[in-house]
Amino acid sequence: MDNVAKISEVPNFGKKVVSISGREILLVNVKGTIYAFENECPHQGSPMSAAVVKDGYISCPRHGYRFSLTDGHCAEHPEFILATFSVQLNGDDILVDL
Ligand code: FES
Repeated sequence: MDNVAKISEVPNFGKKVVSISGREILLVNVKGTIYAFENECPHQGSPMSAAVVKDGYISCPRHGYRFSLTDGHCAEHPEFILATFSVQLNGDDILVDL
């Protein structure tokens, strides 16, 4: 697992993009639970950093496809899956399995 950021760098209901080995990873904090996604929509590649997070979904800012926070699946367009990564917290460190 890679140590990618500190929890204190990702505010509650906020986001942070980190670059790991040339790959952009989007971290999202929902009430202390940290999620990690590829920062690129699987539909047409829009950055997910401007996405809206609400009701268990992250919605792409471009066409509004909604992806599950837990597994990246899109109920309306199941052929598109947002890449998600498992996260572990260790003190203030966010560890992501890339
Ligand atoms: S680019 Fe994300 S929904 Fe189209």
